[in-house]
Amino acid sequence: MTNTPATSDLFAPARLGPLHLPNRLVMAPMTRNRAAADGTPTPLMAAYYAQRASAGLIIAEATTPNAVGRTYPDIPAIHDPAHVAGWRRVTGAVHAAGGRMFLQLQHGGRIGHPDNSGLTPLAPSPIPLPDTVFTRGGHRPAVVPLEMTAGDIRSTVADFAAAARNAVEAGFAGVEVHAANGYLIHQFLARGTNHRTDAYGGPVAGRIRFAVEVVRAVADAIGPERVGVRISPGFTGNGMDEGDTDDIYPALVDALAGMGLAYLHVVFADPGQPLFHTIRNRWPGTLIANPALPWPGPLPADGGRHEAERLLAAGADLISLGRAFLANPDLVERLRIGAPLNPVRDEHLMYVGGETGYTDYPFLTRPRRGSRPDRPSPRPCAEQPTRPVPRPGTGLVIDPARRGFRDGRQAVPGPGRRTVDHRRRGPSSRRHRLYVGCHT
Ligand SMILES: Cc1cc2nc3c(=O)[nH]c(=O)nc-3n(C[C@H](O)[C@H](O)[C@H](O)COP(=O)(O)O)c2cc1C
Repeated sequence: MTNTPATSDLFAPARLGPLHLPNRLVMAPMTRNRAAADGTPTPLMAAYYAQRASAGLIIAEATTPNAVGRTYPDIPAIHDPAHVAGWRRVTGAVHAAGGRMFLQLQHGGRIGHPDNSGLTPLAPSPIPLPDTVFTRGGHRPAVVPLEMTAGDIRSTVADFAAAARNAVEAGFAGVEVHAANGYLIHQFLARGTNHRTDAYGGPVAGRIRFAVEVVRAVADAIGPERVGVRISPGFTGNGMDEGDTDDIYPALVDALAGMGLAYLHVVFADPGQPLFHTIRNRWPGTLIANPALPWPGPLPADGGRHEAERLLAAGADLISLGRAFLANPDLVERLRIGAPLNPVRDEHLMYVGGETGYTDYPFLTRPRRGSRPDRPSPRPCAEQPTRPVPRPGTGLVIDPARRGFRDGRQAVPGPGRRTVDHRRRGPSSRRHRLYVGCHT
């Protein structure tokens, strides 16, 4: 049930089942390949997520519910006590920083490789990904997956349920079932990847069956109010061809609608598309929308705020942002005050590991005591060292890598990407002080 009053204010509080969210900004799940080789989350991951605890909700990255579902190297898992212990460190750090967290459960299906999992991937049908898969040894041609037997389907459903129990034990408020972006559950939904002739294939009613069984089993395991589902209607990446998008999603949404789930999460949601409104009208609960921002390519200067507000106005309850959160640990504060955003450093997104491009994105920082807030910084910004990242919510002067106009104006997020002339504000204005850290 929707228990969140409608608003187009991203900073209005919301409820999500038993959770109180201080704002409507959700950090979208993002694979970053910083887990240990066996899938155990690392202390570095705890630091990364804790930095982003001011999000209304964090949905942690795709995490494998069983060994064969593993996609890529160094992605986290949640099917072993060591994984649970590792994730407990992460949720503990996020809770200590004031945050709330769900975990995304992802089985890769045909997106996997024996070099990553030691196993031949399983999929609805033996149709390989028409692409390479990244392995520790580099990109390798995808292998032909094994068609899942009825027993494989049963045990995979059970693995999702067990992983959800583990997630709750690890301290997550709930889990998100990943039925999007071309991974196993999506492979069942789509005609191009599901050629089965049994009850799990054929017409839409058959192709949604696996998704519904997984979600029901997970909901039975941990309670429906702790379960979200992510979908990506019309997604064509990862070799996907859904065939009958406009039939799949109404049927799937109807099948899930009565379960009392925490939320439905729509990827690349576009309020200009009729299907978005169809889904909104049929889904009685909380709808998280992930705006369709330029992909690939640089984010808009407002980080997606304008699109986010359009989606709220079109009926979404919460907005998830990916890359903007990745590059801005204090994204909520930046959007709230109209501060510029750190650009995404694409070369550090995935597969590379380490702190660079992960935990070293700067926060807004507070001016040194006694410094004149209306004076340029004494050294050119380019020479300023990267500062250690402070705890969330503490910072105030701008990231040296991004700056406003030389004359003191700043681009601020919002409809029409307005500019604000801060010279008209007095130097004592808090907003003014935020923008004067760098004038080169
Ligand atoms: C580095 C990276 C990793 C991602 N990994 C996942 C993932 O694990 N699960 C998922 O559902 N989507 C994943 N996504 C997609 C994001 O959740 C999000 O849908 C996408 O980035 C679009 O949102 P944005 O325009 O705000 O970045 C990933 C995106 C990026 C950039």
